[in-house]
Amino acid sequence: MLLKDKKLLITGVLTDDSIAWHTARVAQEEGAEIVATGFGRGLRLTERSVQRLPEPCDVLELDINDPAQVDAMVADLDQRWGKIDGALHAIAFAPADALGGNFLDTPAESAQTAFTTSAFSYKTLAVALLPLMEKAGGGSLVAMDFDNTQAWPAYDWMGVAKSALQSVTRYLARDLGPHKVRVNAVSAGPLGTVAAKSIPGFNKFDQVWAERSPLAWDTRDPDPVARMVCVLLSDWATMTSGEIIHVDGGFHAVAAGVDPD
Ligand SMILES: NC(=O)c1ccc[n+]([C@@H]2O[C@H](COP(=O)([O-])OP(=O)(O)OC[C@H]3O[C@@H](n4cnc5c(N)ncnc54)[C@H](O)[C@@H]3O)[C@@H](O)[C@H]2O)c1
Repeated sequence: MLLKDKKLLITGVLTDDSIAWHTARVAQEEGAEIVATGFGRGLRLTERSVQRLPEPCDVLELDINDPAQVDAMVADLDQRWGKIDGALHAIAFAPADALGGNFLDTPAESAQTAFTTSAFSYKTLAVALLPLMEKAGGGSLVAMDFDNTQAWPAYDWMGVAKSALQSVTRYLARDLGPHKVRVNAVSAGPLGTVAAKSIPGFNKFDQVWAERSPLAWDTRDPDPVARMVCVLLSDWATMTSGEIIHVDGGFHAVAAGVDPD
């Protein structure tokens, strides 16, 4: 089993559509022990969602921007496991006025909120978990990216935050490599989660993927993304760090779609 005996923290579980929920499911199927995190008003929903995992797991409350909650989470994991082998960062948020075509009018505070919660928070999580990963002799961190090398409709300052997240991934890989910690990101194609549905116009993404993705992309199937996250969390990727791996049906690699003939 790919993740036999690994102790993993999975952030960002909201519903059983969440990329994080599917990652937790695949990780458990592959032998990992999981603790999930839930946030704010979604916490109860997270607690219900994890009941539908193969093995219902504990949920810790985590607002990644609240240092007291970050400390409490680390203390719990330390007491529970005394170490950690890896974590998924599946956290993103942008205020409504930073999304949906308001790019030119977005106030700086809203763009900063998108950056802090969606990109800087990868550093917050990495630094918090570092002592526990060192106790495990090293670790693996994975964040969830959406490719922002080109401007998208509606994605606006969340897109800018994703570009920052890619960069944060590389700097963390630089600084944590000497601690035997690998830091990567998975760049996923569009999936019908709560976060995606909250972006006005996100259905346009489904449309372009249907037209242009070399591999048929199913926006209701997070399984291929979850599997790649699990590969990166596993010992099958021991020399991969600072990498952004696309799981998008090959969409990012083609300029004009596939020839229907
Ligand atoms: N759905 C897609 O199409 C898609 C594509 C590529 C990347 N992603 C990324 O995948 C990740 C997970 O999103 P998802 O699509 O599974 O949606 P989701 O709505 O299921 O998950 C988003 C999660 O972020 C959490 N969150 C928000 N603010 C937080 C905070 N301050 N502290 C802690 N947690 C917080 C929410 O509680 C929620 O669990 C995000 O980074 C998202 O940008 C999504």
